[in-house]
Amino acid sequence: MKALLITDQQEPLLISEIDKPKLGPNQVLVRLKAVALNRRDQWIRQGMYPNIQFGSVLGSDGAGIVERVGSEVSDSLIDHEVIINPNVNWGKNEMAQSSDYSVLGMPENGTFAEYIVVHENRLADKPEHLSWNEAAALPLGGLTAFRAIFHHGHLKPGDNVLISGVGGGVAQFAFLFSLAIGANVYVTSGADEKVAKCIASGAKGGFNYKEESWFKAAQKASGGFDVVIDSAGGNQINDFIKIMKPAGRIVFYGATNGTPQKLDMFRMFWNQITLQGSTMGNDHEFEEMVAFVKRHEVHPVIDSVRPFHDIISAFDDMKAGKQFGKLVVTF
Ligand SMILES: NC(=O)c1ccc[n+]([C@@H]2O[C@H](COP(=O)([O-])OP(=O)(O)OC[C@H]3O[C@@H](n4cnc5c(N)ncnc54)[C@H](OP(=O)(O)O)[C@@H]3O)[C@@H](O)[C@H]2O)c1
Repeated sequence: MKALLITDQQEPLLISEIDKPKLGPNQVLVRLKAVALNRRDQWIRQGMYPNIQFGSVLGSDGAGIVERVGSEVSDSLIDHEVIINPNVNWGKNEMAQSSDYSVLGMPENGTFAEYIVVHENRLADKPEHLSWNEAAALPLGGLTAFRAIFHHGHLKPGDNVLISGVGGGVAQFAFLFSLAIGANVYVTSGADEKVAKCIASGAKGGFNYKEESWFKAAQKASGGFDVVIDSAGGNQINDFIKIMKPAGRIVFYGATNGTPQKLDMFRMFWNQITLQGSTMGNDHEFEEMVAFVKRHEVHPVIDSVRPFHDIISAFDDMKAGKQFGKLVVTF
């Protein structure tokens, strides 16, 4: 079968012909219909991810059809249309992942292949209202946004929420989920056209984070935020701190711009502000997220779809950062 491997070559991505994976007793063989990129995949390509294991199949997101099942798995799963939970070994503690946790797609072989073998407990039914491309876009970004917004952000209908860097894959889900529950949603982006698209889809306002005093305009328009969802980090965290309502919660799941040089702790303690890190989500949250997407008929935003033989160009697009929503690849 065809698969995308991470190698130690100068261009580390290699589409290669490898053996179809073998089935264990509790496993299922899924023929992938569509897969989607995450920033993590590009970080691995750039060598900026811990413990890279060359020869692994990359890819955390995918949707497909169960083709075969292991000896301990019911035959009734055959032909089921499924999406795959990208958590590997979250563990028993729902509050945080175990020490042997990893994300599907390095070291465990991932979704960027014609077939994948996973434990049967990694499957969820593909939501019927989603196309294959939309279903493939959902797992990692949807899960990360769901935990950040609801578990850590405690976002409620009528709250003011700011989704920072809304063009990002996870941020798009944070935007859609916040709109779905009736929060007052504001966005930032480095691209005015992305802000305009979000306003057209229901955002109350939007701001370009490249403008130095964007946060003053955000404060004026919103009256302050109950929740901020961010993945950029850096010194901008201090701008968020200035525009939080008392007891507001800043939840971050990435730090693309690194650590802030200083942190306005005085304003944080006086205004009872929480700065909270978040990673992925537990298996229960994955189920809840899929149910939420079905209940609210959320449609993931797809930036583009391309055939598997062009997958490396999707990595290039992610590196350039021009996407709005998920980069999807089909078989
Ligand atoms: N902890 C976890 O579980 C977890 C899960 C998924 C992702 N992540 C991390 O989160 C980050 C984003 O991941 P992703 O998959 O959503 O990536 P992505 O699709 O590449 O999105 C990155 C987005 O970051 C935004 N951005 C860049 N500079 C910014 C700034 N100064 N302020 C605000 N936003 C800025 C951009 O938004 P605009 O295009 O709108 O300007 C860009 O689209 C990565 O660092 C990733 O490793 C962590």
